[in-house]
Amino acid sequence: MTRAEVAIIGGTGFYEFLSDPEQVELSTPYGDASGPVSVGTVGGTRVAFLPRHGAGHALPPHRINYRANLWLLRSLGVRQVLAPCAVGGLSPVVTPGDLVVPDQLVDRTSGRVQTFVEEGAVHVPFADPYCSRLLDTFRVRDGVTVGGTMVVVEGPRFSTRAESQHYAAQGWSLINMTGHPEAVLAREMRLCYAALALVTDMDAGIEQGAGVGQDEVFALFAANVERLKSTLGSIIASLPDPDGCTCSTWADGIELGYDVP
Ligand code: ADE
Repeated sequence: MTRAEVAIIGGTGFYEFLSDPEQVELSTPYGDASGPVSVGTVGGTRVAFLPRHGAGHALPPHRINYRANLWLLRSLGVRQVLAPCAVGGLSPVVTPGDLVVPDQLVDRTSGRVQTFVEEGAVHVPFADPYCSRLLDTFRVRDGVTVGGTMVVVEGPRFSTRAESQHYAAQGWSLINMTGHPEAVLAREMRLCYAALALVTDMDAGIEQGAGVGQDEVFALFAANVERLKSTLGSIIASLPDPDGCTCSTWADGIELGYDVP
């Protein structure tokens, strides 16, 4: 059976990242994942790549089956997930083109299924939503800033100027539509998880123009895919040991009531 240690959940430009990729299609108890997973190697590490929005970017953020995605990756043996994503900037300390690894998250989505827990007293610790060991690995990488709060909105529309100004006034620096419930489901699946955010635009509340348009977001992302890949390649080469990380040990001795494959 095909196995991987590390996963990347990201944009479609990542297929060529893997050497000798093979496609894996597996069913999950939660329905269909975003698409077939490609599993190959990056510098000797077995890496699974899952296109978050599906083939041809068919799935909008609110239609992504986040539970199926995380369950599927875990069932391949994955222990560490790196999650590149496009974000808007909410603070003058970030600029389009910046790579930022957020260390906090605010959930402003609505109605998304955000747990595997169906019964019992299981309350996942989420004070620090991202894996501290992965964040430390990014910290020593040039060209990446670690820190900042990412607010995740329901989308698929961009925010109004007033909403955006409100988020900025809270001191939140990044805005995105897919970072939640991906992060919490990774934690429930006992996975180490970090987002690698590419700032594609300044959100409506702090830019002076007509607001964000999707063309600028897609164009900036496409122009920076190679940089994202090289950053991820060097991170994969220096990943910490997932054994003993609190991302996994939080569930020791707890009757989870759901299957962690
Ligand atoms: N993804 C990229 N840019 C964004 C923005 N401005 N708002 C929400 N999600 C985004």
